[in-house]
Amino acid sequence: MCGIVGYLGDRIAREALIDGLRRLEYRGYDSAGAAFHDGDRFSVARETGRVENLAGALRESDPQSTLGIAHTRWATHGAVTVANTHPHLSHDGKIALVHNGVIENFADLKRFLMRKGVEFSSETDSEVLCNLIAHHYAKLEGEENRLLEALRKALARCRGAYGIAVLCADQPGLMLGARRGSPLLVGLGEGETFLASDASAFVGRVRDAVYLNDGEIAVLQEDGFRILTMEGEDAQAVTQTIDQTVEDVELGDFESYMEKEIYEQPTALENSILGRFGEDGTTAKLGGLEGHEDTLRQLDRIVFVACGTARHACMVGEYLIERLARVPVEVEHASEFRYRNSPKAGHTMVIAASQSGETLDTLEAVREARIKGLLTIGITNGVGSSLARETDGGVYQRVGPEIGVASTKAFTSQVALCGMLGLALGRMRGLSPMQGREIAEALQALPAQVSSILQHGEALRELAQKYSEAEHLLFLGRQELYPVALEGALKLKEISYAHAEGYPAAELKHGPIALINPECPCIFVVEDGELAGKTIANMQEVKARKGPVLAIAPEAVAIPDEAADDIFRIPSSHDITRPILATIPLQLFAYHFARIRGLDVDKPRNLAKSVTVE
Ligand code: G6P
Repeated sequence: MCGIVGYLGDRIAREALIDGLRRLEYRGYDSAGAAFHDGDRFSVARETGRVENLAGALRESDPQSTLGIAHTRWATHGAVTVANTHPHLSHDGKIALVHNGVIENFADLKRFLMRKGVEFSSETDSEVLCNLIAHHYAKLEGEENRLLEALRKALARCRGAYGIAVLCADQPGLMLGARRGSPLLVGLGEGETFLASDASAFVGRVRDAVYLNDGEIAVLQEDGFRILTMEGEDAQAVTQTIDQTVEDVELGDFESYMEKEIYEQPTALENSILGRFGEDGTTAKLGGLEGHEDTLRQLDRIVFVACGTARHACMVGEYLIERLARVPVEVEHASEFRYRNSPKAGHTMVIAASQSGETLDTLEAVREARIKGLLTIGITNGVGSSLARETDGGVYQRVGPEIGVASTKAFTSQVALCGMLGLALGRMRGLSPMQGREIAEALQALPAQVSSILQHGEALRELAQKYSEAEHLLFLGRQELYPVALEGALKLKEISYAHAEGYPAAELKHGPIALINPECPCIFVVEDGELAGKTIANMQEVKARKGPVLAIAPEAVAIPDEAADDIFRIPSSHDITRPILATIPLQLFAYHFARIRGLDVDKPRNLAKSVTVE
């Protein structure tokens, strides 16, 4: 949510900043701005709407500065207006700042500054922080490291979360950054240094980066950089190689990132499971769990915490792990878990799933679990993310950057990893080698099966076309396909703004059936085996009330003509992998449904890719 990029180097900053913002636009896209150091003052451009609007304005003003900071915004404090767009300048013009996060005590700080005569031009908490730095800067006249000291004093007075980049009009070769709760990293190029909230901002320009830890400050100067603690002591700077490539973050031949990422799923799944099976092929080996085997053997309970799509993946995980390992599993909204006093029961492990690894609600749930002394494990795609760093162990998803706001490949990978975890835990308990091998083989078959479904994209486009006028849709499934139905509904509503709900198929007759009419299509995801017949009976209940029915069903399941208007077939498979196979058509259905309505699937209204505020 919101993106920051800063540039200090020997080239004109404009191009690097605009490129960076384009790559970060998925983090926020209601307005964007940039500030350039220009002699002893700043030149600032700010535009509402997309980054392209800002790019156009900067083409005209053509700033020649080699030092600048830029921001793409997802509004928290204050409406989408030019005044609320970052960068903010302090009232005296000395400080320019971009900020991700929320300063919780901004109202008190604002009152304090207003008493000192500061006038504000926006409604944002960020402008308050900018002026607070300027206030301390003014008081420190003549002192050494004046900007750094002012920043430290200002941050010491702030409660809340921030990732910031700061420039000072008096200091043409200096940029400061600081983080608490909102990611920030320094990109190290040849004769140029970047500061960004996300590595994609400088992929292709920079190979090495240093991720800031919470409570650290970055000092970027023409001759190098330093990482300091909030107390001003030197901190360790660990350099990591960025594994993203330009291809990872560029669209290529696809129309949207969402489409690209849907089609990347065979490779993404392959990478997620690659090298993670035991040598005898009967179990899964997850390196990030090594060292915790004793706890894993003694587990009495697993609690998943996550938000949004990641929570749906965990809900599938609940079915898979309970089935394979016979360990009781609960799934909590991370935002609820952190404020609940859930009873401590035996050996509990908390698993947090988060594509970005930066979702604040999920991180706070992990922090709460740690306070309670529970083992915490992360499933994340965010290498070096806060989640990766704050858990006791974890599993990287390895699916490459996910840029489309609607999560696709991260979901299927999280489900596959839950299956792997179920397999590993199962083999520590009652699961036989034969059963283990069967599951390992089912997981390994996934990439090819997913590819075969993706070849039928056109059929799903036609189905989406047929139902694209619908304003209300129900998604229904049983057991591990129930969370798949929830995810199908979420995908559709996120990007098409049609109203969609997911339910367990049998729950239909306990309420939602009242909605059924010829304008309310029902999309059923059908199991194989015993339960299929029951779901088909639910489909017939809908047909009897003149509701249109689309079934997503395994090839082996016979569906009577009168039970469905349309059937999309997925390969027959093991129960454990069916949730992934059934998800693919729902993603493509939602994608085409929204495209047919002329919507921008990568930047759905009001949504942010990664929500770093409560
Ligand atoms: C936001 C996004 C969702 C995402 C959720 C969790 O709400 O709009 O698409 O599923 O955050 O994100 P995470 O990065 O923690 O998986």
